[in-house]
Amino acid sequence: MTKNYGPEYVRAIAPYQAGKPIAEVAREFGLDEASIVKLASNENPFGVPESAVQAMTAAATDLGRYPDANGFELKAALSKRYDVPADWITLGNGSNDILEIAAHAFVERGQSIVYAQYSFAVYALATQGVGARHIVVPAQAYGHDLPAMLAAITDDTRLVFIANPNNPTGTFIPAAEIQAFLDKVPANVVVVLDEAYNEFLAEENQFESAEWVKKYPNLLVSRTFSKAYGLAGLRVGFGIAQPALTDLMNRIRQPFNVNSMAQAAAIAALNDKDFLKRSAANNAAGYQQFIEAFKQLGLEYVPSYGNFVLVKVGDDPAAGSRVNLSLLKQGVIVRPVGNYGLPEWLRISIGLPQENAVLIAALTKALAE
Ligand SMILES: Cc1ncc(COP(=O)(O)O)c(C=O)c1O
Repeated sequence: MTKNYGPEYVRAIAPYQAGKPIAEVAREFGLDEASIVKLASNENPFGVPESAVQAMTAAATDLGRYPDANGFELKAALSKRYDVPADWITLGNGSNDILEIAAHAFVERGQSIVYAQYSFAVYALATQGVGARHIVVPAQAYGHDLPAMLAAITDDTRLVFIANPNNPTGTFIPAAEIQAFLDKVPANVVVVLDEAYNEFLAEENQFESAEWVKKYPNLLVSRTFSKAYGLAGLRVGFGIAQPALTDLMNRIRQPFNVNSMAQAAAIAALNDKDFLKRSAANNAAGYQQFIEAFKQLGLEYVPSYGNFVLVKVGDDPAAGSRVNLSLLKQGVIVRPVGNYGLPEWLRISIGLPQENAVLIAALTKALAE
């Protein structure tokens, strides 16, 4: 008889489904890798900033040594950028690491974590990974219903995950609504405000949530270098919170969770304002390109504040996988979201203008099949 290893709550985890790698699609469908367009993982279509490549080249000579476990220089740069003390910052192996560390640091097995329906898949994984109870609050117009999330908090709730903008739906919560939520949340509940897509927001929607951390001791703001900064493959993210939270997170995290190359590249990218500006501008133009095409094709989409759009490609539950398969055969990789309970939809990352054009042509063909 096979023995069941590990706790039941770990065995119950449904593994994260990542976007298909280009090489895998090339092998599976007999395509040339160079012809494949990948709009599946909300990556930056400009790739790595040149400034970061230079910083990494310089850092490469020192790879025989362990990285700075405390990330002194990167934290110093972030501290300056966000006007918070360096010891309010926790570095992560991607912001995914920050989300996991938070669950491990603040929640005991059997306690509960609140998050929204259709919000980022890792919240469910992090909850399950610590054996906590999931309180999943129904979405409102595909986004977070903060009053309902507040009402859903129970005596044993220790953490709330909020994604703003949200992935995979792209919805956005204005500053005033989040502040109203923070004002009412019980003091013993940690609120993780996950702002992985913050840098894509138009100026009128930007607010400095790092400032809120000074007011709310139970707030942890999570950010990443994976999206607008173009460093997804390096895995660098960070959390900002007051010392009472940061101190616990530092006890949980691996000592060398962000490698030397990643630390050097992140500092360079943080200072590369031009790259960030070009990325945001390309994203805004690509968003227009997509929504004009979706309108022409008569497709419903959720207005997005991130670097991707959720679009409904049919009315039957097989629509997402059917259209996805046709796109794959045409060499375009997007993200089916059936695992989110959205089987009629696809999430499409915004690429370069010509990549977007390839997607639009392929989608038009797929819908006509
Ligand atoms: C909402 C959200 N948070 C966090 C992450 C984690 O990204 P990373 O670990 O690359 O920082 C993602 C990645 O897709 C995301 O969509």
